[in-house]
Amino acid sequence: MASSLLRTKSIERLQVQGEKAGLKRTLGPWSLTALGIGAIIGAGLFVRTAAAIAERSGSSVTLSFILASLGCAFAGLCYAEFASMIPIAGSAYTYSYTTMGELVAWIIGWDLVLEYAVGAATVAIAWSEYFNKILQLVGLHVPFEWCHSPFEVMPGTSLHGIMNIPAVVILGLLSALLVRGTQQSAFVNSLIVITKVTIVIMVIVVGWGFINPANHTPYIPLATTYTTPQGITHPYGGIMGILGAAGVVFFAFIGFDAVSTAAQEAKNPKRDMPIAILGSLAICTILYVLFSHVLSGVATVDDFRTAGKEASVTFAIAKYMTGYAWMANFVTVAILAGFSSVILTMLYGQSRVFFSMSEDGLVPKVFSDVHPQFKTPWKSNILFFLLTSIFGGFIPEDVVGEMTSIGTLFAFILVCAGVWILRRKRPDLERSFRVPAVGLISILGILVCGSMIYGLGWTNWLRLIVWLAIGLTIYFTYGRKHSKLNGTVAG
Ligand code: ALA
Repeated sequence: MASSLLRTKSIERLQVQGEKAGLKRTLGPWSLTALGIGAIIGAGLFVRTAAAIAERSGSSVTLSFILASLGCAFAGLCYAEFASMIPIAGSAYTYSYTTMGELVAWIIGWDLVLEYAVGAATVAIAWSEYFNKILQLVGLHVPFEWCHSPFEVMPGTSLHGIMNIPAVVILGLLSALLVRGTQQSAFVNSLIVITKVTIVIMVIVVGWGFINPANHTPYIPLATTYTTPQGITHPYGGIMGILGAAGVVFFAFIGFDAVSTAAQEAKNPKRDMPIAILGSLAICTILYVLFSHVLSGVATVDDFRTAGKEASVTFAIAKYMTGYAWMANFVTVAILAGFSSVILTMLYGQSRVFFSMSEDGLVPKVFSDVHPQFKTPWKSNILFFLLTSIFGGFIPEDVVGEMTSIGTLFAFILVCAGVWILRRKRPDLERSFRVPAVGLISILGILVCGSMIYGLGWTNWLRLIVWLAIGLTIYFTYGRKHSKLNGTVAG
C-alpha cells in the first residue's frame, strides 16, 4: 500500500509524450516573459494591495511585496530547473508525479484548484468591482445585494449581499470562450501586457507627486489587531502585519509559473524558461514595490477600510489626484481587460491540470472528454464554471483571495522540496538549468513560503486543512483505484 502511494510516472515517458504532442516551437525569451507578465499583473495588485494595506500592514506593504517576491524567486528557480528538465506542457502536478509519487502529485493537483479555480473566482470578484465603476460613468450601477456575497454587509447599513452576479457572468463568458477553443492570441496578450504595464507606470509617475507623507508615518505601523467585517481578527502592523500582508499580496505574483506550462512551445526551453520565469518576476517586483508605495501614500488606511475598499485604485485617483479623472476612467477600462485575460489564463490552466489528472486516471474521464468539433475539454470547462461561480458568486473576496494564496504557497513548498529530492534520486538526468546551491535555495523557499502561510493566520490554515481533507477522501475513494499506474511497480 505505502509503495503504491509513492509510485511515480517516469520522466522518460513524459519526455516522449512531450515530443509527440507536436506543438509548434515559436516562443522566444521575450514572448515568454510577456506571457509571464500577462498572467501575473491583475487583481493582486489592483485590489488585494489595498486589502493588505487596510487589514494587515499599512504602508509597510512594500516590504511584504519584497518578502513575497523572495519566496517566488526561490520557488521560481526550482520551477525553472523542472521546466528545463521536463520540457513538456505541465505544471507542479506533472513535476511532482515524476518526483514525489502519486499521493503528493494528487495533493498538488487538488491544491492547484485553489490556485487556478479559486484564483479565477477572486479575480472575477475584483472584475465585478471595477465593472461597477464603469457603469457609474453612464449613471448606472448594480445594486449592492447583486454584486456581493451573502457574507457581506453594506457599511453603515444592514443591507446584505445575495449573489455577485457580474462575477458569475464574466466567469460564464470566459468559460464559453474556452469551450469554443478560443485561446488568447500572442498578439492580444502583447497588447494587454503593454496596457497593464502602462497603467502601472502611469499611476506610479503621476501618483508620486500626490503622496502625503503623513500616510507613510510610521512606515511600519505599531503592532495591534484589526477585525474584518466578517468578524475575523488578525494582527495589524509590526512584523506579523508584514508577514500576513505578504501572504495576501503573494496573490499578485501568482501566474509566473504559467510560463513553465508553455515549455512545449518555447524555441529553446532549456535556456529561455529560467530567463522568462525570473525575468517576469523581477520586472513585476520592481513595479509592485513602487506602485504600492504610491497607493499607500496617496490614500489613507481608513479609505481602504471603508469607501475605497472596492476598486481601490480608481477610488484613490478620483479622490486625491485632482485633474486626473480621465486617468481613473482609463485605468478602470484597462483593468477590466487585464483581469479578463488573467481569468482566462487561470480557467485554461485549471482545465489543463485536470485534463492531465484525468488522463492519469486520478479524476473521472469527464475532465478529459474532448468536444468532437471544438476539440476542447468542454465538460471540464462547464464543471469548473459551476465551481468557480459558487466561489465567485457567494464567497467574499478576502476569503477566496487568501485561500488562493495559501493553496499556491503550499504547492510552491512541495515544488521546492521536489527539485531537491529529484537531484538526489536522479542525479543522472540532464538539467540545462540547475538551481545554484540547491539545498540552500529549496530550504529558503520552504522557509519564506512557510512564513507567509504562518502570517495568513489560523482561519486560512483551517481552510487549507479542510480542503486537503476533502481531496484526500476523494483520492482514497476514487483516484487510487482508478490510477493508470495500477499494476505498475513503485517508482
Ligand atoms: N497574479 C494574478 C493577479 O494578481 C493572479 O490577478
